[in-house]
Amino acid sequence: MPQLYAKYKPARHTELRCLISTKNMKIKLYSLGKRLLRRIVNLRRQAVFCLDDPHKAVKQEPGKSIELSAVTHENVDGVADFRPPSVAHRFREYLDNGEIGVYALSEGHVVGHAWADVCKHGSRISCGYMRIGPNEALIHYCNVSPECRGNNIYPAMLFELVQRLFAEEGVERVLIDTEVSNVPSLRGIAKVNFEKMSTGVYLNVLGKLVFTGSRLTQPVWRSEE
Ligand SMILES: CC(C)(COP(=O)(O)OP(=O)(O)OC[C@H]1O[C@@H](n2cnc3c(N)ncnc32)[C@H](O)[C@@H]1OP(=O)(O)O)[C@@H](O)C(=O)NCCC(=O)NCCS
Repeated sequence: MPQLYAKYKPARHTELRCLISTKNMKIKLYSLGKRLLRRIVNLRRQAVFCLDDPHKAVKQEPGKSIELSAVTHENVDGVADFRPPSVAHRFREYLDNGEIGVYALSEGHVVGHAWADVCKHGSRISCGYMRIGPNEALIHYCNVSPECRGNNIYPAMLFELVQRLFAEEGVERVLIDTEVSNVPSLRGIAKVNFEKMSTGVYLNVLGKLVFTGSRLTQPVWRSEE
């Protein structure tokens, strides 16, 4: 009987390992499928916020010692400290397009990034779905390393970006949006004192924006009584 058990035990372990690897494979296939589907059809509901005066922005003290610095061609590869190295390629494109980026550094390591796309003249679609007008900037592609989250690093980067955009880029209004379900991002945006402007619905099919709709939170027109 013990011999039988000894024979049975490894078989059971192998079976378990097989089950786990099949489950992992299923999870990987599921997330790959989801990503592929999102490239074909992407429907997003975004809460849109704005700030039209740098003095309204509220500075947040990070919960750990953080240095904020501009993203440049010289330090762009630093993002590999917490993101896949391929992200640096995307950052180079942003820099080449004149976008403004901020890094948060902790003990010399990049632990956060935030970007802003500035529209100098006319109006255009930014990030594939959001229309921005002259002297408007859209803050996008923000991330904080999972180990450092909850330390006000995101609001500190947003504050820094807002100040730079108004002081150095001649921006008159800064927009930021996030998925309506992204609670950490909504919290960070609220801390800086951005005002809720609208909720936008955007449908992209094969990368092309085919539908936009927005529900304004702030009335643009009020009847005079
Ligand atoms: C959204 C994000 C940038 C916030 O960064 P952050 O530096 O942690 O921001 P904050 O310190 O202001 O924390 C914001 C909220 O995150 C939540 N939070 C707190 N600790 C957390 C932790 N350890 N892990 C995850 N979320 C946490 C809380 O709700 C917090 O709000 P509170 O301070 O009122 O409690 C970060 O969670 C992130 O990189 N997420 C993935 C990418 C993303 O969603 N980017 C934003 C879209 S542009």
